[in-house]
Amino acid sequence: MSAAFLHEFLRAPLTVGAVAPSGRTLAELVTAPVPRDGDPVVVELGPGTGAFTAAIQQRLDGRGRHVAVEVNERFARRLAARYPQVDVVVADARELREVLVARQANVIVSGLPWAAFAASTQDDLLAAVTDVLAPHGAFTTFAYTYTRWLPPARRLRQGLGGRFEEVVTSRTVWANLPPALAYFCRRPRVGGS
Ligand SMILES: C[S@@+](CC[C@H](N)C(=O)[O-])C[C@H]1O[C@@H](n2cnc3c(N)ncnc32)[C@H](O)[C@@H]1O
Repeated sequence: MSAAFLHEFLRAPLTVGAVAPSGRTLAELVTAPVPRDGDPVVVELGPGTGAFTAAIQQRLDGRGRHVAVEVNERFARRLAARYPQVDVVVADARELREVLVARQANVIVSGLPWAAFAASTQDDLLAAVTDVLAPHGAFTTFAYTYTRWLPPARRLRQGLGGRFEEVVTSRTVWANLPPALAYFCRRPRVGGS
């Protein structure tokens, strides 16, 4: 799995944005808002080799719907073969509105490499996320702590504050390589930016 990830990083470093998949501790933290009851619609952005996919599937335990949006066809093909119960869509996450066709998501979990994105891309992605998220839904994403104070990561944090009424920063997951933290966002602002 790690070899496949590294291979894709070498092909497209700015799209993959990391040399190794996230670890289990980070995956459990980031996917904590996925409810353990009901039939939620869970959307995963940038699943890669499936580090968060496995944790989401474990929490869903056969309930609800899990849609994974991955821009890299090779990652998507592997993921679909490994998780036939997940709707794997090959698309840019900016096309989320079209992917969900007027349905709302209860939880959106992002594995996207925000620090590698231009300001306009971050903004388009966050707009797409808040457009499809249910009013009481939750959005989580992660950032590597070493990038936290660099301009793209600060822009992301600012963008989250503009788009959500509540943004909670987690503890640092030192066990992840590299260490990372999560942002838990709730209550999307109507018309936020
Ligand atoms: C840092 S990797 C994270 C993969 C996995 N979630 C993990 O944590 O191990 C980023 C993933 O986002 C995907 N990606 C990057 N830009 C994307 C976009 N605009 N839409 C959908 N997926 C994208 C990459 O192909 C890659 O699989």
